[in-house]
Amino acid sequence: MYEDTSLTGRRLRLRILRHNPQDPGSSPRFETFELDETDGMTLFIALNEVRATLDASLQFDFVCRAGICGSCGMLIDGRPGLACRTLTRDIGPEITLAPLPVFELIGDLSVDTGKWMRAMAERLETWVHAAGEPALDRLEARMDPDLAEQIYELDRCIECGCCVAGCGTARMRPDFVGAVGVNKLARFRLDPRDTRDDAAYYDLVGTEEGVFGCMTLLGCEDVCPKGLSLAAQLAFVRRRMALQGLRGGSR
Ligand code: SF4
Ligand code: F3S
Ligand code: FES
Repeated sequence: MYEDTSLTGRRLRLRILRHNPQDPGSSPRFETFELDETDGMTLFIALNEVRATLDASLQFDFVCRAGICGSCGMLIDGRPGLACRTLTRDIGPEITLAPLPVFELIGDLSVDTGKWMRAMAERLETWVHAAGEPALDRLEARMDPDLAEQIYELDRCIECGCCVAGCGTARMRPDFVGAVGVNKLARFRLDPRDTRDDAAYYDLVGTEEGVFGCMTLLGCEDVCPKGLSLAAQLAFVRRRMALQGLRGGSR
């Protein structure tokens, strides 16, 4: 099934937190699975091996296997990360896996990040707001390449949820939009096609559920698998608001 199947000689022990919230008879418990490590094995490969050979009922998510879709986020030895981008040789041989906190549990290692991300996007209105009638027959204005590059940098977020799971505030406040939300709003503030003024942006994010709920714990940036400068975005929004004297809630 995989290109390189030469063994490293290590035996891995995966302790996995199992629970099916749909089953009234299920209670959270750890189950341990053992398997031989192969060269270049990722956690994604190891979990597939467990599901293919040891327990077909194990639930976890993946789509791209390349750090692009953001579906395989989980707690790896207590730290949020992507299973498909984690080499087992960098951890283990004892590895503890649990679902990302904050998000609704679907089962075992699978959580519903999509529901959380959608609710956050609706609250922050993370889409281009263009004034006037949509002009579908007109070509878009050319964008300055440097600006396009800045927007692209913020757009690299894959909505994996690791920054939310790694944030103490998000664990305490279910309505906190997290660094991912602030990063998204910053992306639309930069976009010249979005005609909202600064006050409209800062009304959305200048709340206790937004930047003022952030306690600068910085776990978000530490665990972001795309290496986004989340702390800089949070600081930038705060600074802009302080400069403009805009404290939100005035719209
Ligand atoms: Fe994941 Fe980083 Fe986006 Fe947070 S900001 S959702 S950690 S890619
Ligand atoms: Fe949370 Fe990051 Fe702020 S970890 S408290 S959003 S700096
Ligand atoms: Fe897509 Fe891991 S499977 S990011």
